[in-house]
Amino acid sequence: MNILFASSEIFPYAKSGGLADVAYALPQALREKETVYTVMPLYDIVNRKKHKIVDMGISFWYTLNHVAHQFDLFYKEDCKEDLFIYNPILCGRTGLYHDRYGEFGDNALRFGLFSYAIIEMINAMKLSIDVFHINDWQTSLVALLAKTHYHLPQKVILTLHNLAYQGIFDKSVMNELALNWEACFKYNGIEYFDSVNFLKAGINYSDAITTVSASYAQEIQTPLFGCGLDETLKSNSHKLMGIVNGISTEVFNPKTDEYLYNNYDQESLKDKKINKTKLLKLFNLQESSKALFVFVGRFTHQKGVDLLLESLPILKDFDANFIILGEGEPYYNERFKQVQHQYSSIHIEVGYNEELSRKLYAAADFLLMPSTFEPCGLNQMIAMRYGAMPIVSKTGGLKDTVLDFTDINTLESSKGVGITFEEHNLFWFLHAIGKAFSLYGNNTKYKRLIQHNMSIDFSWKSSAQLYLQLYKEAK
Ligand code: ADP
Ligand code: GLC
Repeated sequence: MNILFASSEIFPYAKSGGLADVAYALPQALREKETVYTVMPLYDIVNRKKHKIVDMGISFWYTLNHVAHQFDLFYKEDCKEDLFIYNPILCGRTGLYHDRYGEFGDNALRFGLFSYAIIEMINAMKLSIDVFHINDWQTSLVALLAKTHYHLPQKVILTLHNLAYQGIFDKSVMNELALNWEACFKYNGIEYFDSVNFLKAGINYSDAITTVSASYAQEIQTPLFGCGLDETLKSNSHKLMGIVNGISTEVFNPKTDEYLYNNYDQESLKDKKINKTKLLKLFNLQESSKALFVFVGRFTHQKGVDLLLESLPILKDFDANFIILGEGEPYYNERFKQVQHQYSSIHIEVGYNEELSRKLYAAADFLLMPSTFEPCGLNQMIAMRYGAMPIVSKTGGLKDTVLDFTDINTLESSKGVGITFEEHNLFWFLHAIGKAFSLYGNNTKYKRLIQHNMSIDFSWKSSAQLYLQLYKEAK
């Protein structure tokens, strides 16, 4: 079977969050059994030289609304299944979706062009493809185009990584992208409150839909989590299933991670401590005997940053150190910058820094992840693999991957252990942190639990198998 896996970001070429991690690691796992091509835009920010991305010598044109657009195809020299599409409107930017002023105003055109190009590329390269696996709103139009414009026989599988981002645009996009009004501008098509909604089109036109955890698959069919698409999802529930994400156990491996000060595994936890001591020193934080709590993530409401900001004036008096790394919406970037130098035990870095994120996971005793909702979440799995215990809100994929240590009698080989809190408010968040202190005080128990977490198989092995089955069985 030949699969084409399309994503707007893929690690290590371009990454804004977990989608890129998944778009790297899932195809990697699938490649053990099937041929998998990946395709993404060759943004200007991608380092062609470092990643050995070369021109394939194949170009094609596509005319939309009387404008001819040129596309050039590239691949990775030493892995020719990693494909890239270059078009100046799609790729000639300093960011993927936005800059510091906000979303790019032509994202509908950009990702519309990408979706056409994905299908046109198959012809240009004479590829034989059985399944299109598309991801989130940026590639959702592939489903609509495959079914209503090209009438393709291939199956289209859509993975929903986050319902909060849907690609909603003015209906003038119908003409701009030469979409068929009659066939598509309807309730069970792309129409959404008299606008167009790319993700809705993906849901309606794909043959099967997955989301990234079983709990989130249920949650999104309710008004609270459905972000306005709960009814659409309910009517498509026969083709919706939850498959929990894995992580790349090669990339996220404390034994080999080159970003760490010192490599270690569950048998050499004293070597993990060196990472903590060095990082505290780097940020002028005192006493490595105190517990270290870290936060890594996008600064957006989803990640519970309001709760985090609210808790800082209280956390500053705790006998612990805190390091926060993140970047996101301008409002939150500003708020974190405002308090950046206010507390001696809380270090805040506003920015995106892959290397520092790894150093944080390795140094941390606890990871804070107070998400308001979380489709799956990878941070908690990465943290567990690096021997940092996750403190998570009980929602979506966090609920499915982390059990509260006080709720279990025996350790299950497939389940991670951490601290969970149900009600999303300051009281229960601080209560969870309080539980962390008492656990940290019991060294033997704490050590046993993090060693357990470090031994869990968070790889893609079993979930990739479920995707393979779906590719075969989807109708
Ligand atoms: P989401 O996709 O919602 O952002 P996930 O938990 O699925 O959340 O994945 C987040 C990924 O992005 C993880 O690999 C995490 O380490 C990384 N990450 C998030 N923010 C940053 C940052 N500011 N610097 C470095 N890595 C980050
Ligand atoms: C999204 C979600 C996150 C998930 C990631 C990868 O960005 O917010 O929970 O882990 O996609 O699927």
